[in-house]
Amino acid sequence: MTTSPFVIFGYGSLIWKPPPHFASEVPGFIKGYVRRFAHRSRVHRGTFENPGRVVTLIHKEDWDNFSKLDPFPEDDVVWGVAFVIDPLFETEVRAELDYRERDGYNKQTVDIYSIENGVEKVVIPDAICYVSKRDNPSFVGSEPLDVIAQRILRSVGPSGRNKDYLYHLADSVRKLAPASYDSHLFALEARVRELDELEEI
Ligand code: SIN
Repeated sequence: MTTSPFVIFGYGSLIWKPPPHFASEVPGFIKGYVRRFAHRSRVHRGTFENPGRVVTLIHKEDWDNFSKLDPFPEDDVVWGVAFVIDPLFETEVRAELDYRERDGYNKQTVDIYSIENGVEKVVIPDAICYVSKRDNPSFVGSEPLDVIAQRILRSVGPSGRNKDYLYHLADSVRKLAPASYDSHLFALEARVRELDELEEI
C-alpha cells in the first residue's frame, strides 16, 4: 500500500523559515486565492497587547462575500513553496507546525500548480496549508493599506519585527518567481519602506 506524503505549502514565513525534515521543496502557485496581511499576529510578530499583521489566504468566494466594493484581484498569483516532508518525521513535523501556527490558523488543502513547457499543471494535489478564514477571530478582514503599514512598522513580537517579516516575504517571493504579480504584498512593502525611511531621517 502506498500512502501520500505529507506536503505543506508555505506562502508566508515558511518560505524563508522552512519546516524541519523536508525531503524536497517544490516552488509553485495556487489558484483562486489572494495573499493578504489580514491575520492578527500575537505570538510571532506582535503581542496580545499590540498584535501585528501577517498573511493568510483568502479564497475568491470569501473575498466576493466580504468585499463587495473591491473586485477580486484576478491578476494576483500566490507563489510559494511546497515542502515534501520525510515520512519518518511526519508526526513530529505535524506537531511542530500545529504549534507554530497555533494562533488562529486552521488547516486546509490546496492544489499546487507549476508551468511545464508553457502549460499550467497541478504538480502536487492536496497540499496542506494553514489559513485563517473569515469566521476566525484572528482574521481582520480588509483594512486600508496605510493602517496595515503603520501597524506593521510598529509591531514586534517573539519572532522579530513585523516589518522584517514583510521585507523577507517580498524578497522571497521576488526570488521565487521574478515575474509574479502580488499587488497587495508589493504595495505594502513599498509603503512600509517609505515610512521606515522617513522615520530614519
Ligand atoms: C509563522 O510561522 O506563522 C510565523 C513565524 C514568524 O513570524 O517568523
